[in-house]
Amino acid sequence: MTSDALKVPAVALGTWAWGDDGRPGDGHFGSRWSASGLREVAERARSNGFTLWDTAAVYGMGRSETALAQALAGQDRGAYLLSTKFTPQIAGDGDDPVADMLEQSLARMGTDHVDLLWVHNPADVARWTPPLIPLLRSGRVRHVGVSNHTVEQLALADRLLGEAGFRVEAVQNHFSLLHRDPERAGLLDHCREHDVRFFAYMVLEQGALTGRYGPARPLPEGSGRAAAYNGVLHRLQPLTERMGAIGEDRGASAAEVAIAWALAKGTTPIVGVTKAAHVDGLARAREMRLTAPEIAELETLADAADVDTRGWWERGTR
Ligand SMILES: NC(=O)c1ccc[n+]([C@@H]2O[C@H](COP(=O)([O-])OP(=O)(O)OC[C@H]3O[C@@H](n4cnc5c(N)ncnc54)[C@H](OP(=O)(O)O)[C@@H]3O)[C@@H](O)[C@H]2O)c1
Repeated sequence: MTSDALKVPAVALGTWAWGDDGRPGDGHFGSRWSASGLREVAERARSNGFTLWDTAAVYGMGRSETALAQALAGQDRGAYLLSTKFTPQIAGDGDDPVADMLEQSLARMGTDHVDLLWVHNPADVARWTPPLIPLLRSGRVRHVGVSNHTVEQLALADRLLGEAGFRVEAVQNHFSLLHRDPERAGLLDHCREHDVRFFAYMVLEQGALTGRYGPARPLPEGSGRAAAYNGVLHRLQPLTERMGAIGEDRGASAAEVAIAWALAKGTTPIVGVTKAAHVDGLARAREMRLTAPEIAELETLADAADVDTRGWWERGTR
């Protein structure tokens, strides 16, 4: 009953960092950004054909959705796709918390529908999947995806939607050179076999795999990502240096090599862009083809780093 199949660009754009207030060191990312800078990001994305935006009600408790709407103001609503998330952990206690959270997201984004609504994590699949059905029927939600779910949880959500003629069309999980559990646990194969699009989040490990940060230049002091990664940056150096060298041969950066690696795995990376120049990098990564020996070498270096980069929100996700 889903009106048409989900069609997405090669790379999606993430806006978790837009939930911070843009001051250096503040919030989870601590990146400096401004409203005019984000408008430039949105315009550069439009002109490069990157039209799918990923946000969540929980990012800055609505601030990311608001900042995204402001950045996209003036663009034709039909020219871009919005994806946001229902986060069970912040569900209200009304009769229909899923619809309520969606309505608040729609109001912040100034739109009457989202192209893709994610269930942010698998708190209780049997409870939170059925309320999606009336939203799909009404057109408020065009497509549904699940995030941080295992193969079994994905299958259950898909069966529950299937009873009403809908399906789970997309999965969004952590997948990077440093975190390859979705491949090892068969989730990538499962998605490929069932025609479910796999979106890889944190392919840059929140900056740790960009080559921009290292022991001599740590992630912004006081930010959440600094707490998560600064202690292991020295172990990532052989990997990021090799990524930088592979990129240099192609006029690209280490970050773009990380994105190209995720593309080579058949995934759709969601990259958290904070600067217009990042969008130029996505365009280069989209064209880059890593060789099989390069991919194997990068994965060997990633394994040698021996770091666990799972986020605190990832519980039993493989
Ligand atoms: N479903 C979930 O549970 C979940 C969890 C995490 C993320 N996500 C989604 O996935 C998106 C991506 O993850 P993320 O934003 O956490 O981390 P990420 O994409 O791994 O890293 C983002 C950071 O990398 C830097 N960067 C981005 N593009 C770059 C480029 N082309 N070249 C160099 N540096 C670049 C920026 O840091 P600087 O600002 O320091 O330059 C940016 O803040 C999120 O925004 C969110 O939409 C979903």
